[in-house]
Amino acid sequence: MGSLRDISVAIFVAQALLASVVFVSAQGSTTARPRWQTLSGDAPFVIARGGFSGVFADSSFGAYSLALITGPSDLILWCDVQLTKDGAGICFPDLRLDNNSNIASVFNDKPTTYVVNGVSTKGLFSIDYTLKDLGNVILSQGVFSRTNKFDGQSFLIMTVQDTYTQMKPLGFWLNIQHDVFYAQHNLSMRSFLLSVTRNATVTVDYISSPEVAFLQNIAPIFRRSATKFVFRFLGLEDVEPSTNQTYDSLSKNLTFIKTFASGIIVPKSYIWPVDGGLYLQPSTSIVLDAHKEGLEVFASEFYNDIPFSFNYSYDPVAEYLQFVDNGIFSVDGVISDFPITPSAAIDCFAHLGKNATKQGM
Ligand SMILES: *[C@@H]1O[C@H](CO)[C@@H](O)[C@H](O)[C@H]1NC(C)=O
Ligand SMILES: *[C@@H]1O[C@H](CO)[C@@H](O)[C@H](O)[C@H]1NC(C)=O
Ligand SMILES: *[C@@H]1O[C@H](CO)[C@@H](O)[C@H](O)[C@H]1NC(C)=O
Ligand SMILES: *[C@@H]1O[C@H](CO)[C@@H](O)[C@H](O)[C@H]1NC(C)=O
Ligand SMILES: *[C@@H]1O[C@H](CO)[C@@H](O)[C@H](O)[C@H]1NC(C)=O
Ligand SMILES: *[C@@H]1O[C@H](CO)[C@@H](O)[C@H](O)[C@H]1NC(C)=O
Ligand SMILES: *[C@@H]1O[C@H](CO)[C@@H](O)[C@H](O)[C@H]1NC(C)=O
Repeated sequence: MGSLRDISVAIFVAQALLASVVFVSAQGSTTARPRWQTLSGDAPFVIARGGFSGVFADSSFGAYSLALITGPSDLILWCDVQLTKDGAGICFPDLRLDNNSNIASVFNDKPTTYVVNGVSTKGLFSIDYTLKDLGNVILSQGVFSRTNKFDGQSFLIMTVQDTYTQMKPLGFWLNIQHDVFYAQHNLSMRSFLLSVTRNATVTVDYISSPEVAFLQNIAPIFRRSATKFVFRFLGLEDVEPSTNQTYDSLSKNLTFIKTFASGIIVPKSYIWPVDGGLYLQPSTSIVLDAHKEGLEVFASEFYNDIPFSFNYSYDPVAEYLQFVDNGIFSVDGVISDFPITPSAAIDCFAHLGKNATKQGM
């Protein structure tokens, strides 16, 4: 498999990055490490969104492998679940398959238009293909500003089951971005989740969704399992499809969220907003408020390669530290496309003082 060589190259780069990190961590190891200001008091988790999706195609064998090899042992692998026409669950970042794969060149199909949460959306949707149809579809880097050098690898679309059994992650996270849409097409996320988890081979640690009704319906079924349910906030002005409330208004009603979830995902700007000039504003109280309710908080939208606040002086490690080591609170996990960076921030740089990141990178 040609892909192995590329994984090795990527690992080499990652190890070179880590080598400079370990030097600094040794300097900091003499002082007693303060307790983390997370809900549990333990170090925050690193969640690899689609694997190391900043390098390899999201949800590919390469992306998941690189994340596991370069991440901490308790790294959590994130899979966005989509359903096929025949109800199989696959890991894929979008319900349209034309972004992040070569499906458009495998089939000559015209894009279909469906209404997704009230918005007319055009593409090649997973609901129009059986799992067998997708057998020759190859994953590709869906973010065009990222290198496509790792795309010639023939990484195939993987089912949720295959992803788990091939990767054997210590932590496995399923994100169900759409249940209402699949239900409108007579496909049931609930049935899929039951079949995959009743299968003793798959342990799901977290299930997240931005849909209230879905979590309310499914959480009771898993009451006796260790699976945790997490409500995912989208944009402040976006409307949650089952309650018709904006995510902004739901974020002010965490007591309600706690009735069906044990944690929340918030875009990082819910915690540290930025102004129009990308300067960081004072933090909100959402992490402290959520912790008061007993909710874990996971921050999302961390990308090393998309402009972030100038206050971090272009240093992504500094950005993670702002969320996990600011003296006031720590989030309980960060969701990243470049999981090696938060791993370094949490394992090596946190609790060292302000000068730490400048020494390492
Ligand atoms: C594909 O998905 C990525 C990530 O969601 C997005 O940034 C990009 O704009 C999408 N591309 C197209 C052509 O839709
Ligand atoms: C879903 O099933 C119902 C009842 O069997 C049927 O009336 C409806 O047309 C189906 N919808 C789709 C999109 O297949
Ligand atoms: C359950 O496991 C069996 C054997 O490991 C496999 O054949 C089957 O497809 C799995 N079911 C699901 C829903 O993944
Ligand atoms: C949400 O609002 C739309 C239009 O404002 C309405 O048609 C729909 O019935 C509402 N749904 C719920 C669950 O309240
Ligand atoms: C919180 O949400 C629930 C359910 O929508 C609602 O009944 C309750 O009034 C809300 N509380 C506040 C303070 O908005
Ligand atoms: C971010 O930088 C700006 C400009 O230097 C400063 O005014 C602001 O206080 C900083 N924000 C935070 C949260 O430190
Ligand atoms: C950080 O570096 C500055 C300048 O090099 C130094 O004056 C300061 O004492 C250092 N702070 C810490 C906490 O080490």
